Amino acid sequence: MRKSLFICIFAMMGLGANAQTPVYQDSKANIEERVEDALSRMTLEEKVKLCHAQGKFYSNGVPRLGIPGIWSSDGPHGVRFEMNWADWGHSGWEIDSCTAFPTLTCLAATWNPDLAYAYGKGVGEEARYRNKNVMLGPGVNIYRTPLNGRNFEYMGEDPCLAATLVVPYIKGVQSNGVASCVKHFCVNNQETNRMSVNVEVSERALREIYLPAFRAAVQEGGVWAVMGAYNKIRGTHACHNYYTLQEILKREWGFDGVVMSDWDGTHNAKEAAFNGLDIEMGTSHRPDKGIGGRNFRFDESYLGNDFLKGLRDGTYPEELVNDKARRVLRLIFRTAMNPQGYGKMDYAGHSEIVKAIGSEGVVLLQNNNVGKTPLLPLDASQYQNILIVGDNATRVLSHGGQSSELNPQHETSVLKAFQDRYGDKVSYAQGYAVPQTLGNRQDASSEQSKAVQLRQEAVEKAKQADIVIYVGGLNKESGQDCEDSDRQSMGLSYGQNELITDLLNANPRVVFVMMSGNAMELPELKRMPAILHAWYLGSDAGDIVADIISGKVCPSGKLPFSYPKRLEDNGAMSFGAESYPGVNGTQTYKEDVLVGYRWHDTKGIPALFPFGYGLSYTTFSYGRATLVSYGNQITVSLPVKNTGKVTGKEVVQLYVGEDKPTVLRPLKELKAFDKVELKPGEETIVSFSLNADEAFAFYDEASRSWKTNKGSYTLYVGSSSTDIRQKLKYKR
Ligand code: BGC
Repeated sequence: MRKSLFICIFAMMGLGANAQTPVYQDSKANIEERVEDALSRMTLEEKVKLCHAQGKFYSNGVPRLGIPGIWSSDGPHGVRFEMNWADWGHSGWEIDSCTAFPTLTCLAATWNPDLAYAYGKGVGEEARYRNKNVMLGPGVNIYRTPLNGRNFEYMGEDPCLAATLVVPYIKGVQSNGVASCVKHFCVNNQETNRMSVNVEVSERALREIYLPAFRAAVQEGGVWAVMGAYNKIRGTHACHNYYTLQEILKREWGFDGVVMSDWDGTHNAKEAAFNGLDIEMGTSHRPDKGIGGRNFRFDESYLGNDFLKGLRDGTYPEELVNDKARRVLRLIFRTAMNPQGYGKMDYAGHSEIVKAIGSEGVVLLQNNNVGKTPLLPLDASQYQNILIVGDNATRVLSHGGQSSELNPQHETSVLKAFQDRYGDKVSYAQGYAVPQTLGNRQDASSEQSKAVQLRQEAVEKAKQADIVIYVGGLNKESGQDCEDSDRQSMGLSYGQNELITDLLNANPRVVFVMMSGNAMELPELKRMPAILHAWYLGSDAGDIVADIISGKVCPSGKLPFSYPKRLEDNGAMSFGAESYPGVNGTQTYKEDVLVGYRWHDTKGIPALFPFGYGLSYTTFSYGRATLVSYGNQITVSLPVKNTGKVTGKEVVQLYVGEDKPTVLRPLKELKAFDKVELKPGEETIVSFSLNADEAFAFYDEASRSWKTNKGSYTLYVGSSSTDIRQKLKYKR
């Protein structure tokens, strides 16, 4: 009797000879069995606790069962500063530096999926080391208007390009046992009124343009988390939108991961409970209850105490919380309880990835002759006096932009990189400054005179220089490529236009290195010999720019979006306020499926620099393309040859268009691309395989399904969306 009592107590304490690790703790066990085991041991209160934040970037585990909570971090270009528990302040840690990777528009401009994997793997290693379980990114919202302040965090205007790159990025991050949280789901395409604007978009545009990258993230990338957007979609906030979350994401696409809200993106208790939100993050006030501010407690979140009460009184069935809890447990087992190594802060190794991405992402927009040869690459042995001008030549651009801000372990500026290479030959003039740094802000006239002085200094130095490298553009301050504010225009600020004109008057040999995640209105285009679109390049920005300018690296980036000649030439902008930024709280995507180059092409409105465009220091010839089809499989092959004098990389692009569509369709759409490296004189065969049923399909609103018409199609092989080298016909 006594003996059996002891055995019983030992067993209860887990100390007996037969004590076994509970299934949920066994990382080798089937994950679904672990989830069910854990769930069966949990109280209702514990399940509810999983569904909301308990800190600014922390959500609960199950302490009683030893199941850890989840630490999240922004994302997507590196692991963010450590943040305060309950507000947006930096915690002031001394060990929260990271590698700053180039922003995602730059990754998109590489058109290189291998680099996307390396990027994700590197970011994931640092996240794992910093004990982060969820990285809040990547962002794949489609570039709809050049004014969107967050375009630099996304992957451009084309769903095929974004979908192709997001998949390896996610796989790279998640190979570390760190979740990607792809964001912002969905149609979050502007910052103006971002918390409230209601987006009306046709089902076709939703399916063909705005959803494919998210779908690829889920179905091909196997992403473990998705973040809801701030805006409303057809009347309901995206963080608790039944149609997009329950119907499309979870039912149609079979997503088994977690839907997180954007921070403070939850607005309604019932919708949050019923419509597919799993973890509510960042709620800091409840207008419906008149509470908020400093003393707001996380348990007061919509999915907190109220949710518990509703489950207890039968407002909500228990299956609702069980589904959410299962998803959260799955996420915890995949990440915080994943025995997948410890990550590393490999600054040197990750710098190599940064350089590789930047080197392939910078786009050479213009390289005209000065005298008999193009200005770039620059042969420094010819120059005694290299003048660097511009605030962005010294500014740490990994800072700023709000949630994508980083504390880089190092960020090499353009000035520093040139000084390292060319020593005393290099001089510097700031040329312009952002207003806050110009003396007393109240005093407009002193700001003005300081601006004039900076400009004059630069111009005087330019007169003496052999060459001027002008480093300007945007800078991730509010309204200059930054979360929570759109740009006010497509132009340059801080008097840069006047400065550029004066510099060119003083010296015709000017290279414009433009930092920006967006298309720009470019002053003095005809007179400016060389222009590089240099994004925000992260830790090794200066070295990347110097390598390209000096010719050590041959540029191979191609634009992931179109540069319109004028803002109103952009599809979304051409329809006025109803389309952007919205009227009376609603905006309608009137350009429908004609986003980016689809608009320029189909409407015959030429872009200044088209999608897919980018120059090189070498040249490539395209041989005759052949098309072979077998059933619905199509193979297009062609020889591509480097006909220039230096090794370079070319992105060969394949577009398709239906000749006589039954609905309005873009003239052509990107369906495949390949980036090849070739030595001078070297030739290779580039081949693309397409499934005709998929590649030629459009979303048929009547049948609510994808449809492929019989008839004839044109396949376009090109070096950009407008530099089409060959057309092929296909009959289906
Ligand atoms: C942004 C998200 C970000 C989150 C957490 C929000 O304001 O929209 O992209 O991940 O804050 O910082």
